[in-house]
Amino acid sequence: MTVHVNSPHARDIRSHLHPFTNAAQHADVGPHIFTRGEGIYVFDESGKRYIEGLAGLWCASLGFSEQRLVDAATRQLKTLPFYHNFAHKAVEPALELADYLLGCAPVPMSKVFFTNSGSEANDTVVKLVWYHNNILGRPNKKKIIARRGAYHGITVASGSLTGLAYAQNAFDLPIANILHTDCPHHYRYAEPGESEEEFAAHLAANLEALIEREGPDTVAAFIAEPFLGAGGVIPPPKGYFERIQPLLARYDILFAVDEVISGFFRTGRRFACETYGLKPDLITMAKALSAAYQPIGAVMISEKIFQSILEGSRRYGLFGTGFTYTGHPVPAAVALETQRIYDERDIGVHVRAIIPAFRRRLEDLTDHPLVGEARCAGLIGAVELVADKAAKRNFEQNMRVGAWAMNKAAEHGLIVRALVNDAIALCPPLIITEEQIEDMFDKLKRTLDDAHAKFATS
Ligand SMILES: Cc1ncc(COP(=O)(O)O)c(C=O)c1O
Repeated sequence: MTVHVNSPHARDIRSHLHPFTNAAQHADVGPHIFTRGEGIYVFDESGKRYIEGLAGLWCASLGFSEQRLVDAATRQLKTLPFYHNFAHKAVEPALELADYLLGCAPVPMSKVFFTNSGSEANDTVVKLVWYHNNILGRPNKKKIIARRGAYHGITVASGSLTGLAYAQNAFDLPIANILHTDCPHHYRYAEPGESEEEFAAHLAANLEALIEREGPDTVAAFIAEPFLGAGGVIPPPKGYFERIQPLLARYDILFAVDEVISGFFRTGRRFACETYGLKPDLITMAKALSAAYQPIGAVMISEKIFQSILEGSRRYGLFGTGFTYTGHPVPAAVALETQRIYDERDIGVHVRAIIPAFRRRLEDLTDHPLVGEARCAGLIGAVELVADKAAKRNFEQNMRVGAWAMNKAAEHGLIVRALVNDAIALCPPLIITEEQIEDMFDKLKRTLDDAHAKFATS
């Protein structure tokens, strides 16, 4: 590639360390620069239009040109561009948003604590779980169990909860007191002939064995995404949470649900906790909380956790955690406006109406010779590409079939994401129409046909 020494491409390669990017390849590949968005589409610097089939990073729920969110940010920037919430101070958008979120919480909750991201929200969960047990005089009850294949973020604690190798390789993670149990992926990990219900029972038994082995008095919490997101878009097997939740209650283990992707109507309900009947003690959220127009995350906590914080404050003088931008008024105002838009436009009704079309087109791909499994959890799904359907054998990782398909889809005007095991994920903006869903899947189908022509082994 020839690049002018001062072009944006050259400056990017010279100066910019990219997140989640192969740094050794970046100078050769170069940046793909995006310049504007409209509805579900984004445009790159050449003017080429793409369907954003992953809503950016599973987050741009209202697409890329929602004027009301621009106006909400502008209004707040003109009124009070920043003020904080430390030491009894407060800003209106933060307190209103907290109140609003409690009002639509899927289970009774006590308070909302704001962060800048999903990772910080899950980090805060780790701190709160430890804090809670210290205040209760249970200093040994500290272990937190996550699942292999989970994605909970990338900071030191949340990156430890994440059960994916790339988040931990050479980073000296996980930290102490973080354990991982089975990935609940029936297609990949069930024994031959095991039904989903049997597989769920088997995983619950494994979790119980782990708790017993570690000592129930040392296990503090279990954290789960309602469906695994970045780990492959994996819905829970039938009966899974029905078996896990009583187990947690029996051993007095807190349940934290990570709704960072699933929250705000991705499954048709505001929280996937409603879709799957989950009753957590802590819930984290981010992404579609503000439709991604501003960075903001949050942790909702139950009264039981709040009581420990009250007691801790009496003991230590204050609750010593928070960020400069906790409850920043601009993202909070944008998040509030996002929630109003969801309500006024009945976004849940819209999503529930289009899920069948999404599911039908996705499941049609099951017959494709390259697709081992097509799976979805509402308006989010993935197809896992395999070299051998009968043996469920993935392609060799060094063939990079998923990455190839992702680039080919982009040539066809569709942005998707390649995940582990060559799973190609779709998670379009919630505002997508049925006609646009058809177009998105036509493009994906063309991509899979191209991949089959290139990689088919038979
Ligand atoms: C389920 C889940 N939790 C947490 C995170 C981390 O959020 P952030 O990237 O905002 O730190 C993500 C990010 O993709 C996520 O998918």
